[in-house]
Amino acid sequence: MKHQVLIIGGGPAGYTAAEAAGKAGLDVVLFEKQSLGGVCLNEGCIPTKTLLYSAKTYDNAQHASKYAVNVSEVSYDLPKIIARKSKVVRKLVLGVKSKLTTNHVTIVTGEAQIIDNHSIRCNGELFEGEYIIICTGSDTFIPPIDGVKDVSYWTHKEALDNKEVPTSLTIIGGGVIGMEFASFFNSLGVKVTIVEMLDEILGGMDKELSAMLRTDYAKRGIEFLLRTKVVGISQNEEGIHVKWEKGEESGCVTAEKLLMSVGRRPVTKGFGLESLEINKTERGNIIVDDEMQTSMPNVYVCGDLTGFSMLAHTASREAEVAVHSILHKLCKTNDTDSMSYRAVPGVVYTNPEIASVGETEENLQKNGIQYEAIKVPMAFSGRFVAENEGINGVCKILLAQDHTILGAHILGNPASEIITLASMAIELKLSAQEWRKIIFPHPSVSEIFKEAL
Ligand code: NAI
Repeated sequence: MKHQVLIIGGGPAGYTAAEAAGKAGLDVVLFEKQSLGGVCLNEGCIPTKTLLYSAKTYDNAQHASKYAVNVSEVSYDLPKIIARKSKVVRKLVLGVKSKLTTNHVTIVTGEAQIIDNHSIRCNGELFEGEYIIICTGSDTFIPPIDGVKDVSYWTHKEALDNKEVPTSLTIIGGGVIGMEFASFFNSLGVKVTIVEMLDEILGGMDKELSAMLRTDYAKRGIEFLLRTKVVGISQNEEGIHVKWEKGEESGCVTAEKLLMSVGRRPVTKGFGLESLEINKTERGNIIVDDEMQTSMPNVYVCGDLTGFSMLAHTASREAEVAVHSILHKLCKTNDTDSMSYRAVPGVVYTNPEIASVGETEENLQKNGIQYEAIKVPMAFSGRFVAENEGINGVCKILLAQDHTILGAHILGNPASEIITLASMAIELKLSAQEWRKIIFPHPSVSEIFKEAL
């Protein structure tokens, strides 16, 4: 029997595509070798945010007296925090499964192998389909540092399931994963050191705000080694030793545990991708058009595998675009859709959160684009002041010469929730004047945008 759509990978790209295609009445088969939900739901976005919420609750309880609330004997229970995380994940995985089955998607648990652009083998069975959507995601990159094979280190996976609080932790890589785990373990009282080879943490975010966040965490005890290259790792009974070099200086940091978080790489091997003659970039990334179609018209690729944005929310939007494109071809629908990366928000769930959308000042300067930067303290929002005793933050908006919004950057809670407003303004190409005419609820932290405009 020939199906209409075969999808490999049940992460945010794959399950969104399957649900959308199933809802539209297509005959869909989704292949997943592990658990539905992919890295994001099982060992990424959701479990980290669950742990971070426990850490935030603990922090808030410790500082409750700032709000005239007396709490005595605050403590935490790491095994219970981890157990709650697993419960949240199980609940959401069941939710994904239920949405798929409601929309008549056939879920096949097993490792899929592409045979050609119309057929996939899984569990010894051959599945034929008119369209294939590949959503195999990405994997942790382990750098070839001298000695890395001889030490036991954590990736995000082991860090998420660890039930014993280490006394100290070294983190190689001060990116998103590094900073979120640094925030979590710092809250639990662990001595954290971050080794980052660039001159600032959180590359890709606004540099000024990242530096403010770093200064804040340094005050809370995290040690940052910036512009620092790791040259070797070894382990003995004293702990894990990370040897580093910074220009002429060199040294060694020793800790009980080591977390490796230097980035992720698209998963392109092990599922027969090489049997398809699709065009790739020089770096090996698959080339797709703005409808996520590869050079083979019936093969689509969405999510981290494109090596482009590597964010769950980008992946799910790419999946919707791919399904709309397939529906347009199969059912001759009038709906056309195309992928826009103009306003992809990025959030780091530290406490405070940092969020960003659109251009950064660094990018605009590099590309010689004229802009005006408006910066206001978060204390300009009454709601923020009411809920953030002794804490400040910044909202920065970058305007083009025609006053459309080029970028928005926020340091302060709840940046993750209010950044969507800026994403909408950028995606819809609103000018500052048009955005200012929108009525914001008062008091709300989102009013900070109105203050800035
Ligand atoms: P990343 O690319 O965000 O950061 C890696 C950092 O490691 C960079 O700052 C890089 O300069 C540094 N680095 C690389 N090699 C190094 C070395 N040998 N020594 C010292 N530093 C080195 O990657 P990360 O944090 O592993 O995250 C992976 C992906 O997962 C990212 O694409 C991210 O977007 C995604 N993610 C997103 C989250 C969110 O949206 N909140 C949360 C967690 C992950």
